[in-house]
Amino acid sequence: AGVVEVDLRPIREGQNFVCKWRSKPVFIRKRTPEMIQSSKKDDCIAPSMREPATDAERCKKPEWLICIGVCTHLGCIPQPDAGNYGGYFCPCHGSHYDHSGRIRQGPAPKNLELPPHQFMDEFTVKLG
Ligand code: FES
Repeated sequence: AGVVEVDLRPIREGQNFVCKWRSKPVFIRKRTPEMIQSSKKDDCIAPSMREPATDAERCKKPEWLICIGVCTHLGCIPQPDAGNYGGYFCPCHGSHYDHSGRIRQGPAPKNLELPPHQFMDEFTVKLG
């Protein structure tokens, strides 16, 4: 119970796939080279971020971001491909997240949370 296996094959490059895990939405983003590059570029300023983390610490495999799709402010569901950093934008009170789900602007106190997960093979990830 509480373990979900997700088949990654149908997810297109750039797409933010949403599934459910422990009754929460989980975002599985297949990042484009541009998304990866834009996130890694900001690693140089990561130490000054609200919750410091490098892109590699957030994404074990660079092409996949797997995070819980719940804003760390008051729990709304952020929208993909929006906001000043292009990753996610929470319209409830205006929190902006980047392409690795790091909080960059707005009232949210923390980065989008990473669920425990493990890649079983090239095409399958296990949540939980
Ligand atoms: Fe997302 Fe307030 S719940 S900004």
